[in-house]
Amino acid sequence: MPDATRERDFYVTTPIYYVNDRPHIGHVYTTTVADMLARLHRLRGEATFFLTGTDEHAAKVVDAAEARGLTPQEWADRNAAEFQATFERLGISNDDFVRTSQDRHKTKVIGYLRQLIASGDVYLGEYEGWYDEGQEEYVPEMRAKELDYKSPVTGKPLVRKKEHNDFFALSKYTDQLRRLLEGEEVDGQRFIVQPEARRNEILSRIRDGLNDVPVSRTGARGWGIPVPDQEGQTIYVWIDALFNYLSTVDTDERRHLWPADVHLIGKDILWFHAVIWPAMLMALGRPLPRRVYAHSWWVRPTGEDPDKLPIKMSKSLGNIVSLEELDAYAAEFSLDALRYFLATQGPLGASDSLFAGERFTETYNADLANTLGNSVSRVTNMIGRYCEGSVPEGDRQGGFGNVSERPLEAVIEDYGSAADAVNLSGMARVAMDLVAGVDGYIERTQPFKLVKQEGKAAEVGAILYACAETLRLASLLLWPIMPWKCEELWRRMGLDYAAAMEANGGLGRLDAWARWGLLQPGTPLEKGDPLFPRHEG
Ligand code: MSP
Repeated sequence: MPDATRERDFYVTTPIYYVNDRPHIGHVYTTTVADMLARLHRLRGEATFFLTGTDEHAAKVVDAAEARGLTPQEWADRNAAEFQATFERLGISNDDFVRTSQDRHKTKVIGYLRQLIASGDVYLGEYEGWYDEGQEEYVPEMRAKELDYKSPVTGKPLVRKKEHNDFFALSKYTDQLRRLLEGEEVDGQRFIVQPEARRNEILSRIRDGLNDVPVSRTGARGWGIPVPDQEGQTIYVWIDALFNYLSTVDTDERRHLWPADVHLIGKDILWFHAVIWPAMLMALGRPLPRRVYAHSWWVRPTGEDPDKLPIKMSKSLGNIVSLEELDAYAAEFSLDALRYFLATQGPLGASDSLFAGERFTETYNADLANTLGNSVSRVTNMIGRYCEGSVPEGDRQGGFGNVSERPLEAVIEDYGSAADAVNLSGMARVAMDLVAGVDGYIERTQPFKLVKQEGKAAEVGAILYACAETLRLASLLLWPIMPWKCEELWRRMGLDYAAAMEANGGLGRLDAWARWGLLQPGTPLEKGDPLFPRHEG
């Protein structure tokens, strides 16, 4: 297909993950959401770049390695490989995997720091403050007090820490940051932080005033990126990590990708992404990412006290949803079903989501087995019996009006708006409403009764055409969320979208494909096993 389909680029990132730990639902969730966005944009025909990776220079990596008698690099290699293997197994379609211990990253970061030192935005000073060891971050005095000197994430006491460091002149950017977060255009740029509730929290902290922040540390035990021309100073792991988004695409072939369209993150790391990162970019004279989207958390009650308010998962509380548990869901219900659950029941938006097994089975049965799967079986069965297994003739102009109350253009527009708002459950709902429309249409018209009447064959065919055509449309809209099941459905319906995308560098043509009447009468339909067998118990 010609390059004309590449109207624009789309660059989406996930946080890069600490390698001190094995992957769990937090990592899988953010990465899966990013994968769905990447697939959607590819389906729309946009040249998409999807980046994930690992954040390796944390002090806890040195500790974890030491405890196992390994070098930090060995430990990082082992865990980075595990993240990569996990994402591969989960069908994540990232275009690159950056590791902060790679030279391609380190040399760029040293260059950025040199520039900031030269411009005076990074200067030498002394710092004393409250430090959250688990999160590897300093907490400002006022906030530390509010938090009762405990980490809001791990609950462990904050520790008092004093260092000679390089500082970044964050305070200099207070006013610009405030205006950006208030939604103003600053120097021709906008910077969107979502959801709204999170943006407001950040904004009120900015209005309280910003202090300069340390960007280097001493005593990193040789693990980290050295500050240029300064003995013993290592670049603070958070600064090192944030630069991954830029360093990975700061090459001749990829430079056009910057700025990123969306940094997808969890709410616990929003401060760095909504305040420190844009300020550093302004200091470097680089364009700001267009958007930061901070989802909330998956939570689960602790074992000992199931009635206690659900709290964030942590190893010490024993309420983590492990990789093994997620793999078990994928094995039992399919990977697509796991993705559907994460997309529709997950903590996008400002509220946390409870991870509960019963809810998984309920969602699966209600939406996938009884609605989507059942509708596909019903329609293909009837076409098998009444139309000799081939797509019948139908109304290829106005037939959609029988299935849906809304015009197709409006439906596609709703889908697009949901997608642009990172509202995956909204996207799924648009598609599932189409499926519900098919069921309603069958109930109203009763083709299984009609077929017994003389001279009604064409009418029955037209009804079933509209049903199959609507399911085709629904499968296109569901593809970013459940690619493999949708591709299976395409195969059964004789549709070659998967091959067309492959032939076009992974890019589709949603605008051209999501039109009424493209399903060809006469195409043989394969019945196949139920796409989503009902799950008992
Ligand atoms: N290394 C930093 C990020 C640097 S980005 C420049 C980091 N890594 S992390 O491995 O600890 O966590 C990464 C992400 O996982 C965060 O966005 C966090 O919100 C997410 N999650 C961790 N636990 C989670 C849940 N229980 N639920 C949903 N996501 C959560 O932070």
